[in-house]
Amino acid sequence: MNLPFNYTKTKSHYVQYHNGETWEQGHLQQKENLEINPMSTSLQYGQEAFEGLKAYRGQDGRVRLFRIEENAKRFIRSVNFLHMPAPTVDMFIEAVKQTVFDNLDYVPPYDSGGTLYIRPYMIGIGGQLPPAPSKHYLFGVVVMPVGQLFEPLKPISLKVTHFDRAAPNGTGSYKVGGNYAASMYAQNEAKNAGYNDCLFLDPRTHEHIEEVGVANFFGITNDNTYVTPESPSILRGITNLSLQYIAAEEFNMDVVKRPVPLEELNAFKEVGACGTAAVITPIEKIATDEQTLTFPEATNQNSVTAKLHNRLKNIQFGDETPPKGWITFVN
Ligand code: PLP
Ligand code: COI
Repeated sequence: MNLPFNYTKTKSHYVQYHNGETWEQGHLQQKENLEINPMSTSLQYGQEAFEGLKAYRGQDGRVRLFRIEENAKRFIRSVNFLHMPAPTVDMFIEAVKQTVFDNLDYVPPYDSGGTLYIRPYMIGIGGQLPPAPSKHYLFGVVVMPVGQLFEPLKPISLKVTHFDRAAPNGTGSYKVGGNYAASMYAQNEAKNAGYNDCLFLDPRTHEHIEEVGVANFFGITNDNTYVTPESPSILRGITNLSLQYIAAEEFNMDVVKRPVPLEELNAFKEVGACGTAAVITPIEKIATDEQTLTFPEATNQNSVTAKLHNRLKNIQFGDETPPKGWITFVN
């Protein structure tokens, strides 16, 4: 089975409205489309935040969610920044579990390479003209079976872009739709030039590596240190957080979070992209206007990147014991 990474309709999606004062009862809706006012703040002014996580079917048939509490906390942070009423961590987890449970038939089989992608989101609804917080909101969860965004462990190439996805003190660390709208031109430019994605630099100095279009960046040094960029405008990825834990606690590696100058790329023996959609993907080529750097270790099946990938995958699909609290069962 080779599923695309794309939307398809499933049995139901979750909707829960906030009427300006309180949350109404949430429910599963089978009708595919929403009906919202064309002057909704989400449509006109981008008052929208979302999350991305996956449900994994194990060999035992049980369906697992990976570190959902971290997604809940990040969602609340994003929602608050856009001045929307946040669900509680428990509301978030319950909504996701209910939606996945109702769509269990759509979770791809173990070993098929597929997963159920889960997209919780929050939008301002109801018509108004001023670009101010809406009075009404919708918290929803949509699920869809997907394959991987990039082929498993197949190396990718990146082009360093001149554009920024977010401002230095702006929305970069929040998972809001506007960041993705702002990335589209740069990503398209990289793809049209034959690269898999673009690599963003820090928006203040343009001297440091920030992140990939839809994934975080990490590098492995010759002395086996896991290095990942620190910056206020990077999305704090849960995959990256998990790799840092595995590297430090299980692989006995040093883990360093700090600004990573573009000039330092030469010092890495491996570089990779990590995220829910990207999983862990080795990078074999990074091009700037001046030069193209290559990373021959990207195709080595025994690389540190490949070992991190295998450990993470085995945790997610239930083949190995997870660190405490990382897995939530749906069935
Ligand atoms: N950076 C960006 C811009 C992303 O869209 C994502 C994907 O969610 C990530 C990083 C990785 O985050 P996570 O590992 O939580 O999926
Ligand atoms: C994810 O990895 O979950 C993302 O959000 C990336 C992209 C599909 C927006």
